Amino acid sequence: MLDLSPRPGDLEAVETASIDELRALQLERLQWSVRHAYENVPHYRASLDASGVHPGDVKSLSDLAKLPFTTKADLRDNYPFGMFAVPRTEVARVHASSGTTGKPTVVGYTKADLDTWAHVVARSIRAAGGRAGHVLHNAYGYGLFTGGLGAHAGAELLGCTVVPVSGGMTERQVQLIRDFEPDVIMVTPSYMLSIIDEMERQGVDPRSTSLKVGVFGAEPWTNDMRHEMERRLDMHAVDIYGLSEVIGPGVASECVETKDGLHVWEDHFYPEVIDPVTGEVLPDGEEGELVFTSLTKQAMPIIRYRTRDLTRLLPGTARSMRRIEKITGRTDDMIILRGVNLFPTQIEELILRVPALSPHFQCVLSRTGNLDDLTVLVEHREDAAAGDAGEELRRLVKNSIGVTVAVDVVAPGGIERSVGKMKRIVDRRPKR
Ligand code: DLL
Repeated sequence: MLDLSPRPGDLEAVETASIDELRALQLERLQWSVRHAYENVPHYRASLDASGVHPGDVKSLSDLAKLPFTTKADLRDNYPFGMFAVPRTEVARVHASSGTTGKPTVVGYTKADLDTWAHVVARSIRAAGGRAGHVLHNAYGYGLFTGGLGAHAGAELLGCTVVPVSGGMTERQVQLIRDFEPDVIMVTPSYMLSIIDEMERQGVDPRSTSLKVGVFGAEPWTNDMRHEMERRLDMHAVDIYGLSEVIGPGVASECVETKDGLHVWEDHFYPEVIDPVTGEVLPDGEEGELVFTSLTKQAMPIIRYRTRDLTRLLPGTARSMRRIEKITGRTDDMIILRGVNLFPTQIEELILRVPALSPHFQCVLSRTGNLDDLTVLVEHREDAAAGDAGEELRRLVKNSIGVTVAVDVVAPGGIERSVGKMKRIVDRRPKR
């Protein structure tokens, strides 16, 4: 694979700033952001007043812990525009989450916020190995989802030639990759796998394409999946993280030269990791729920937003800013089976250790009597028979996670494909 490490002069000064410089910048921005939220969003004024803190009490970064959390429910309660801190006429764009349960969550951006967003996405693509002049195939969905338009603006700002394909029409994705010869692809990792399958179906060797780097995110994926993609595509597979409530993609990103977790763009988003039960701030290095406070956003400042994503904070390596470890899963996606907690990412890791199994899988929950059961539905690879692969996976799960699951190995194509985020958990338990 090509060496895509940054050359001297490629990076912004803040990416290699000293920790002291960074902390000073963050404190100044945090004070502005908290005051801006308090003065312009009734929800923040009420919640800060209720917990007896005033923006003037934020004298150091650790004072942030005194402020109340913000949750998805707060955004829903203020649907659609109640969390905005600027007059609606200054809001240049809105996005919204799909909202599988009830109302969608709406987020807003001023023109300056859109610039900030494009800037952090451009920084992320460069960290992944993208450069001005590259052709970039963008298969994240365009629309209310932040993936498509977010990646698009960042890629344009970096100076790429953007191919705005959006998700779906997999045959055409392959044709465009063959004809336009992109250097970079941005897509969810699960949809990348479908594109690879389609290449193989069309007789195109995925290792022979022009692609040099994939910037994959919007859903959890493991290091084992990285190795699978890099092997099958002969290109770098790099992780990008973000969420609509904080800005969209580009909150944190991996560097191609290290691939050791995602650097949080801490000059714009301040991270904390908390104990999801007690809400207590955990020291760096300990695993818990990721919480973000925006430092520069105008239209929708967000204070201590509980992401429900589980990870830990680690010191910077390729950049000064701290890293988050690859996300293990969301608190919502934790399966509790006979008292044992497990995440679909753990199943993914084990599936990829069984040579006959493909990475297309789903976790199906059902119930017999009072007990929950988990069936792992997984496809075998095109070039391998199922044989005793199911039994092998069942044994691996029992030995490494400690629970008994059923494994159902199905033919290639037997599991529904998604063109965006893959639904890993199918809950067939009767509603109580
Ligand atoms: O998924 C933004 C995005 C688009 C990120 C494209 C990266 C690439 P939402 O739809 O609001 O925004 O979903 C946010 O997706 O809280 C995580 O649970 C999950 N997620 C996003 N990126 C990653 C990642 C976009 N790299 C939610 N690894 C987040 C694991 C991720 N989970």
